[in-house]
Amino acid sequence: MMNKFKNLQDELENVALDLNEKMDVLLPEVAKCGEAKVLEAMRYSTLSPGKKMRPFLVATTASLFGVGREISLQAASAIEFIHVYSLIHDDLPAMDDDDMRRGQPACHIKFGEAAAILAGDGLLTLAFDILADESTHPSPNVRCELIQAAAKASGVSGMVGGQMMDLNAQHDKLTIDEIIHLQRMKTGALFRLSCEAGAILGKSGQKQRIALRGYANAIGLAFQITDDLLDAEGSERETGKPVRQDKSKGKATLVSALGVDRARNQAKMLIQQAQTHLESFDKRADILRELANYIIERKR
Ligand code: IPE
Ligand code: IPE
Ligand code: MG
Ligand code: MG
Ligand code: MG
Repeated sequence: MMNKFKNLQDELENVALDLNEKMDVLLPEVAKCGEAKVLEAMRYSTLSPGKKMRPFLVATTASLFGVGREISLQAASAIEFIHVYSLIHDDLPAMDDDDMRRGQPACHIKFGEAAAILAGDGLLTLAFDILADESTHPSPNVRCELIQAAAKASGVSGMVGGQMMDLNAQHDKLTIDEIIHLQRMKTGALFRLSCEAGAILGKSGQKQRIALRGYANAIGLAFQITDDLLDAEGSERETGKPVRQDKSKGKATLVSALGVDRARNQAKMLIQQAQTHLESFDKRADILRELANYIIERKR
């Protein structure tokens, strides 16, 4: 059978390879020193086989405005570092308490909780160090915009705030609107940041930026619904992380609130919305159109 996502998967793989090379250079080397363990933990979690969706979004949205991958990869690495930090902390016993991530023992299982907390902190701060660096972009204005966008998306008005609400979702009964709101923060914020970063690097116009924000909003929420569907129906072998966790923890998700069929339809509707937001872009945006479809059909 023809793999309808072959082109996209090849492209994802290309970005992932280039990104891993870049991140390898950007991550501090592990030398014999007192802090060796935290450096090792940072490398262990970052260089493991993640899907690299956010860096891919940075690279492809930047390329809409003629920005080459050699330029966008550095900002993309910074965003992946923020994402990996969020995963390391998300797996901690105080949070989701999960033992496996990306098909390998979670950071705190391998290195202990203290080193995992510090590895997350180290990755978050490294991300800002990179965004502030001249080699990320020659324009100080562009760098400042990237830094502020990253801070807002990662912090209490974005991912961190969403994670707090997500933990409350284990004992409070949330309405559908509240679940959507928290997911737009915990997951949507970094998707929005990724597309925004491409637009910032490409010095895009306001209209294009708004269109990309709409696209990111829609795929970000669809991505989390699919993550929750995979938790309910997928396998640890394919996802690389424990499944059936949301139900056992009583977590409020759109899957628990609507059931799998309606949640899946919701995700499909969001993908149609995402496509509408791309209407003003030419065929250079085809890969983003394909990515939107892939996001809800993926098995990992
Ligand atoms: C997992 O993100 C966390 C969610 C927001 C659902 P990914 O599914 O992108 O994780 P990796 O990077 O591929 O491991
Ligand atoms: C993750 O949501 C959101 C983050 C910001 C890390 P989940 O808790 O559902 O992600 P997984 O399933 O552990 O990857
Ligand atoms: Mg979580
Ligand atoms: Mg989790
Ligand atoms: Mg999940």
